[in-house]
Amino acid sequence: MINEKVQNVLNQQINKEFYSAYLYLAMSAYFDEIGLHGFSTWTKVQAKEEIDHGMIILDYIIERDGKVEFGQIESPDRDFNNPLQIFEKILEHEKFVTESINCVAEMSDEECDLATRHFINWYISEQVEEEANARDVIDRLKLFGDECASLYHLDKELGQRQYVQHSYK
Ligand code: FEO
Repeated sequence: MINEKVQNVLNQQINKEFYSAYLYLAMSAYFDEIGLHGFSTWTKVQAKEEIDHGMIILDYIIERDGKVEFGQIESPDRDFNNPLQIFEKILEHEKFVTESINCVAEMSDEECDLATRHFINWYISEQVEEEANARDVIDRLKLFGDECASLYHLDKELGQRQYVQHSYK
């Protein structure tokens, strides 16, 4: 049976992953509203990955004979102005998620739950990638500016992103 304190932080993490999906969907809707359909695709694919992140933890708790809790998911922030501001929000949010994942790792260490400590390593690596992805788009938005031609090309490129189901095993 899984340690109760570890189970609690994992349940909180499920909620944060599903909130992340909600947030990315709100961004995706905004991008569609302003005609940036490639940006919309990118954030929609990210939303699907966030659902995978939540589902993987859910399955793990069940596998460890624990109890999954379903907390309320907050409405997402919808204060969106332009692509750069949104990707800065994405980076800020992913940094918050990274800290949260680090806390799960710390709690697993404190409670000598080595199975969860091993499990959460996948998320630690995933967060490095997620922060880097957001930073990469921010860098390009800053480098090329938000002129129509630059945005057109970046929108086309981001629209190529394909969803691949995430799995930690
Ligand atoms: Fe699942 Fe973007 O963290």
